[in-house]
Formats: sequence, C-alpha cells, structure tokens
Amino acid sequence: MTRKQLEEVCVIGAGQMGSGIAQVCATSGYRVKLFDVNQTQLEKAKSGIYKSCEKLVEKGKLSLESFTILKEKLCFETKISELKNADIVIEAIIEDEAKKKEIFSELNKVVKKTGIFASNTSSISIARLAEASRRPSQFIGLHFMNPVPLMRLVEVVTTLGTNAQTLEISKEFVTSLHKEITLSKNYPGFVVNRILMPMINEAFFALQDGLSSKEDIDKAMKLGTNQPMGPFELADFIGLDTCLSIMKVLYEGTSDSKYRPSLLLQEYVENGYLGRKVGRGVYSYS
Ligand code: CAA
Repeated sequence: MTRKQLEEVCVIGAGQMGSGIAQVCATSGYRVKLFDVNQTQLEKAKSGIYKSCEKLVEKGKLSLESFTILKEKLCFETKISELKNADIVIEAIIEDEAKKKEIFSELNKVVKKTGIFASNTSSISIARLAEASRRPSQFIGLHFMNPVPLMRLVEVVTTLGTNAQTLEISKEFVTSLHKEITLSKNYPGFVVNRILMPMINEAFFALQDGLSSKEDIDKAMKLGTNQPMGPFELADFIGLDTCLSIMKVLYEGTSDSKYRPSLLLQEYVENGYLGRKVGRGVYSYS
C-alpha cells in the first residue's frame, strides 16, 4: 500500500483527542469512521466536531468547503466489525495499557491485513502495544497534541519492529493533514511529555514549597517565557489525572527519582480536581 491508496481512516475512542483526530482527517479529505462503544459519547463528539468546525470557519482557519467535505466523509460507528476496511486505525482511548492491548488484539481479528495500526498514546510503550496487536511491523505511534485542530505537531514514534513502509506512509499521511512531524524513539514520554510534564510537575512542587501563588507561577511562565498558557492553566486543559499518569509512566519507566510526581498534584487528583473536563481545576482548589 502507498499513501495515495490510503482512503479510509478509523479512529477508536470519541473523546477529546479521538474527536479532534477524526475532525482533521475528515477535513483533509479522508473517509473517516469514528468508533466508540458508547452512542451518547459519539453524539457528543459529533456536536463538538461541528461546533469546532463552525468556530474555525468563522475565524477563517477552515474553509467552508473543507467543512462540507467533513460532513460527507465522517461517520460514527458502534460496531467494531464495520472497521474491516480501514487502511489506517488510530487508537485514542483512555491511557490504560490493558484496555489498549485488548482493543488492538480485537482490531487485529477484524481489520484487513494491510491495515496500519497507530496509537495516540501520550506515554505508554508503543512496542508493548505493537506486540499485543500481532502486527508489530505495521504498528506506529502517532501522538497528536491537544487541541488537535489547532496544534501543528504530531510526534511519530517507531519501535525496532516498525517497518520502513509503515513509517513512510505514516509520515506522508501526517503531512497530508497539514501537520508537522518530529521523529522519536519508543521511550517513556517520547519527546514532548518527557520535557513538558516535568515542567508542570515542577510548578506543583513550587506551589507545594510555598514559593509563589498559583496566579504568579502561571504569570511568570506565561510572560517570562512566552508560553500561551501557564503550567497550571495547561494542566487544567490537559487534565490533572492525565498529567499524573504520565508522570507515573516516566517515574516507573525510567526508575529515575527526578520524575517522582509531586504530592500536591496527587492530592488534587485524589480529591477529584481534574481540570477542565470536570469543571474543577487548580484554581478552584484551596
Ligand atoms: N476547535 C476550534 N476552536 C478551538 C478548539 C478546537 N478544538 N479548542 C479551542 N478553541 C478555541 C477556543 O474556543 C477559543 O475561542 P474564542 O476565541 O472564540 O473564545 C480559542 O480557541 C482560543 O483562542 P485564543 O485566542 O485564546 O488562543 P489561540 O487561538 O491563540 O490559542 C491554544 C489557543 C492553541 C489552545 C493556545 O492557548 C495554546 O497553544 N495553548 C497550549 C496548548 C498546548 O500546549 N497543547 C499541548 C498540550 S500537551 C499534549 O497535548 C500532549 C499530551 O500528551 C498531554
């Protein structure tokens, strides 16, 4: 298969990341099936995608033509058997290794033999997922950034088993979505999260040490280093539970104490302050 023969993209998981990935694939002209076992989640995803497109059209960041193409090309599925013709499957379910392995094992039975498998995991080992899929040579990490329609980067992660054709097709595919690529090896956190998450974690350590207020830590990093969001604002945006789980992967995957999660970050998560997704984040916790 070549990239030009790649027509059907199936995205697994209709959360924030899966919806964003499905959206950019459909507006780029691919036939897209967004799969989730939960019909209500699919309906929520559909309305979120349409709202996002309307906003992007309003702001002149998406053409009306691309939005019309999306309406024709994007469909929603609850039956895994409907994914049999996928040229590429991009998994974007929650960061749970056992659940990801289970879905890839299932997909291997359903999807045609030439189909490429990709995971959008932010930190779980691509090699272990590849093994579970039983298609290690056709397996790759495609790590999109949140919010997918606005962020320009996709980290492409290979293992020793990824074959050259899978890498080549995946790179061309990502480029066709108007995204930039960085290549990375399969190592905890890859590049972005290995550097970003310790910064967010360090902000929690700084707050824990009483160094400064939440507001001033965010302000210092926004205005002092020209970042669009301060570390706490960004942690709320990503989800504090996601930040904590990535720190745990870094800590456990490297056995290096410099990655130990801050106790304060753990306290927020244990108390259900998870950020934007539940409407309670860093600024509402006292
Ligand atoms: N679709 C359409 N519009 C969206 C959107 C989406 N999916 N998500 C947000 N927006 C809109 C907002 O609704 C808001 O609209 P209004 O202006 O109408 O209120 C607008 O974007 C925000 O616009 P701003 O002018 O405030 O900001 P901006 O457009 O310049 O940038 C941003 C917004 C791109 C989110 C910017 O704040 C930013 O870059 N933040 C940092 C994001 C980041 O670091 N992401 C990476 C996280 S790490 C990751 O994803 C990896 C991982 O594994 C955890």
